Amino acid sequence: MRYGSLGRFVCLAAAGLAASGAALAQSPAARLPLATAATEPLLVAADLREGTDLSGEWRYSIDPYRSGIAGFHGETPDRGQQRWLDVDVRKAMAEDNRTLFEFDLAHSPAAQLPGSWLAATPELRHYQGLVWYQRSFTVAPGRKGRTFLRFGAANYATVVYLNGQPLGRHEGGFTPFAFEATTALRDGENQITIGVDSAATAATVPPPVTDWENYGGITREVRLVQTPETYVDDAWVRLTRDGKLAVEARLRGPAAANAPVRLAIGELKLELAGKTDAMGTWRATMTAPRALVRWSPEQPRLYDVTLSAGDDRWRDRIGFRTIERRGPDLLLNGKPLFLRGISMHEEEIGANPARIITPANARALLGEIKTGLNGNYVRLSHYPHSEVMTRAADELGLLVWSEVPVYWMVAWDNPATLATARNMLAENILRDRNRASVVIWSVANETPVSEARNAFLRTLVSDTRRLDDTRLVSAALLVERDRAAAVPTMTMVDPLAADLDVLSINTYNGWYTQDRLTDLPGSVWRVPADKPLVFSEFGADAKAGFHSPDRQQKFSEEFQAEFYRKTLEMADRVPTLRGMSPWILKDFRSPRRQNPDFQQGWNRKGLISETGVRKQAFAVLADYYARKAAVGAR
Ligand code: GCU
Repeated sequence: MRYGSLGRFVCLAAAGLAASGAALAQSPAARLPLATAATEPLLVAADLREGTDLSGEWRYSIDPYRSGIAGFHGETPDRGQQRWLDVDVRKAMAEDNRTLFEFDLAHSPAAQLPGSWLAATPELRHYQGLVWYQRSFTVAPGRKGRTFLRFGAANYATVVYLNGQPLGRHEGGFTPFAFEATTALRDGENQITIGVDSAATAATVPPPVTDWENYGGITREVRLVQTPETYVDDAWVRLTRDGKLAVEARLRGPAAANAPVRLAIGELKLELAGKTDAMGTWRATMTAPRALVRWSPEQPRLYDVTLSAGDDRWRDRIGFRTIERRGPDLLLNGKPLFLRGISMHEEEIGANPARIITPANARALLGEIKTGLNGNYVRLSHYPHSEVMTRAADELGLLVWSEVPVYWMVAWDNPATLATARNMLAENILRDRNRASVVIWSVANETPVSEARNAFLRTLVSDTRRLDDTRLVSAALLVERDRAAAVPTMTMVDPLAADLDVLSINTYNGWYTQDRLTDLPGSVWRVPADKPLVFSEFGADAKAGFHSPDRQQKFSEEFQAEFYRKTLEMADRVPTLRGMSPWILKDFRSPRRQNPDFQQGWNRKGLISETGVRKQAFAVLADYYARKAAVGAR
């Protein structure tokens, strides 16, 4: 059922994608096969598989007019522009002076990957467009099985060549994709060339205008991943709401059909054997062992899970827990839950971030939430963060809101844009379905109500429910302000609220509005009473070190701290409030923020500065969460 319907709807997505918004898709490169959630390989938990990490020094060359993608009449470019060719340019031109190449990646500047080019050199600080990357690597003879080339993510549209042969292309800046490389690889020296185009268009997801920096480039690891001929491409092992352990796995390869498979969780002395069907899919359930310790932020218990099939050993570290809503309450493992959170962008602490999320960077950020703020929850905004981050949340014990960048003004009536969004959502969910930390999938942020928008988002909501019936679905919504009311009075009028499990509101009363901070506690929130409410955003900018003892001046630490005090006082008076993720943990780059005294290209709503300096409001929220934690969920 699932894969059939998954395959069908993502094929729809793939079809739509073919004519998508990225510049690359409007060129001869569009003929390259497109990697999507429906096309092989998915390689779930590939980061735990045998393989070769291709991080390190790569050569790069900018291509602002995309001359390596299309000739001057849009045709296939001349040989002299084909950056992916498996040729030694200097040698070829030295041997025959009629030969002309107008690039030579092997002798172009070097950059360390992964990491966005924005932080690589000052010249590229604001470059948006196409960049080519190339490196060589050696493969030992005698390879067995299959080899895949897997990307954690590349922003935004990517084309991939190996030894001069096209492997394929991908669209979307925040989700994994992979290509089979078994036949294109050769023993000894290999050459890989990748074109990454960060340019956003009206049809891309997200669209050009956001409130964060568009970090172009290969921002997550590139790996060669080894598997046997037949391997476990996707596996999902979880606790269902009725306490059953359920497994669903998909094998790919010549021996995938009717193949014996075995699930094992050693620490629980659990073994479950079965056989795949004709499609290579296996589904089974069993009563969860009594000894199973459920995952929670207080006790983030993970188990080593293996799935054996023929020569393949798939493995993952998985926590088992249930999350549900009952009326306005959130229940984790059947117990009432309050989400003590904060929002966060995928940007490491430092003065010149490159969107490089190493395990250490992830722990530094999440540690500030868990131990610094006494938090149990993080909103990973506004796009899928690295799997390094969601694995760290699993290990540390932080609940996660995971989101796709359907943000502000998306082209709601463009089928290609919908296909792109559907595919991103599927890639994200299929990557992280085994992450205990992830409890909420969000389909959008601050999107204007319209028929086309409602239909677009309802498609994403139903895709989410089809792919994962164990988590909650939400979206960050806006509310209507009653201008005539004496006190701040907001009403949720968004028709999408009816389709969601968790109602989430972004509010900036007292920052983007003229409200006095003293008016905030008296605010009136007219929201449905039968669903949990979360404040997915509220916040105020403060420049670390800028002070105004009278707490009145915007951008001062004192104003931000007072804003938090008053907003939290308000929050305590909202009966159905079951969580919050104030905006935001850390100051982050945003081209929209250009006040020379206070912003300098940074959104300063962080509770810590870009270099990690805590502002006064940090302690205000930390104390509030300590009190919340002490009195239990509410
Ligand atoms: C919005 C938006 C964020 C933005 C924030 C702000 O609500 O969702 O992406 O950064 O407000 O204005 O600071």
